[in-house]
Amino acid sequence: MSASSDSAGAGNSRGLIAWIDARFPMTKLWKEQVAEYYAPKNFNFWYFFGSLAMLVLVNQIITGIFLTMDYKPNAAEAFGSVQYIMNDVEWGWLIRYMHTTGASAFFIVVYLHMFRGLMYGSARKPRELIWIFGCLIFVLLMAEAFMGYVLPWGNMSFWGAQVITSLFGSLPVIGGSLLEWIRGDYVIADATLNRFFALHVAALPLALIFLVIAHLMALHEVGSNNPDGIEIKKLKGPDGHPLDGIPFHPYYTVKDMVGVAGFLLIFCAVIFFAPTLGGFFLERANFTPANPLLTPPDITPVWYFTPFYAMLRAVPSFAGTQVWGVLVMGSAIVVLFFVPWLDRSPVKSIRYKGPIYKIMLTLFVLSFITLGDVGMHPPAGIYPLLARIGTAVYFAFFLLMPWYTKIDRVKPVPERVTGHV
Ligand code: HEM
Repeated sequence: MSASSDSAGAGNSRGLIAWIDARFPMTKLWKEQVAEYYAPKNFNFWYFFGSLAMLVLVNQIITGIFLTMDYKPNAAEAFGSVQYIMNDVEWGWLIRYMHTTGASAFFIVVYLHMFRGLMYGSARKPRELIWIFGCLIFVLLMAEAFMGYVLPWGNMSFWGAQVITSLFGSLPVIGGSLLEWIRGDYVIADATLNRFFALHVAALPLALIFLVIAHLMALHEVGSNNPDGIEIKKLKGPDGHPLDGIPFHPYYTVKDMVGVAGFLLIFCAVIFFAPTLGGFFLERANFTPANPLLTPPDITPVWYFTPFYAMLRAVPSFAGTQVWGVLVMGSAIVVLFFVPWLDRSPVKSIRYKGPIYKIMLTLFVLSFITLGDVGMHPPAGIYPLLARIGTAVYFAFFLLMPWYTKIDRVKPVPERVTGHV
């Protein structure tokens, strides 16, 4: 190609961009949100998980669309249609394993993303709304995963749906009618499967996309926090940009690629070598069709729900009602929304917080992992005791936070971010 045709090509693309920019703020958006979004220069490993969560969301939407092309959302055909996807549809097995592995990956990534927030005080002023949008995303993600799990209409889908929906029935006064309204029938049935399908493929993904956009708009309004918990906007250079900030593009678009590569390596290894991950990502009982007359020996949810399931079972049922367990489980999620106001420490990041916060955060993580394990076992032997201790520690972390963050020792926070020149 000659130099003149090269420059003609560049001229054409510039012309096209100018044509679009005159009608739609494409370049403006790119500059404001990416190329001239100044992010702190000290992002570390923990800052990979936001972009990874977006990657997994896109993976779920695309593979979900392809699954929908062959899936049949009715009780007579659902299980068979999934077998058809696995055995007969070209690359169907890959699409399905990308979706099932993606579901677990979503929770791994989001749990680590939330943990980062707790470490660096990212929920605190002025980022309360970013956190609240995040909590709403988390609630919807749980609903999305639960309904998706029902769709293959395996035996665990059926019994899992039976157990979880019946929790709504334990609420006083409205319980009975609420349960019937959710199920669309007196039991889990075709009507339930139909509505869960509609919610799983349309309503909830739309709401999730909307919330992720709101999450990022709020983030770009106030700017990112960082591992030092320093507000970089307070110190600006003569050009008006934060002294400790660097443009998101190309610096973090390139850095995030490293996270994406590492993630894809693990993600593909699971898909190709261990798609069920020994029953963690796809449970054994779900390889048999739904059978209302055959209760699986242990009804346990998928791993990402087990910490909350353990809290539900930690509370004994009084007078035949599980309502207190349901309240405890619900409160375990509701309490997350209040984190921005529970932390009263004068510093944000764990780097400058004292030993009490470090111990409490460690205990919280241990309690969450223990509860996750407890939720996978029948409530017998040592497990009920472990569930109660785990639940107490989980709530202590949040409810005592206003007190221990106030009395904890703190270190002086430097003016500039550390670790980078
Ligand atoms: C679909 C799920 C989610 C997506 C796609 C997502 C995406 C993102 C992205 C791209 C960022 C900026 C990059 C980063 O800081 O890592 C971010 C920041 C943040 N997210 Fe999320 N997020 C999700 C869920 C959540 C949840 C469940 C929470 C908490 C309950 C949360 C809390 C935060 C906070 C506090 C920040 C600001 C962090 C900081 O500046 O240090 N996010 N999110």
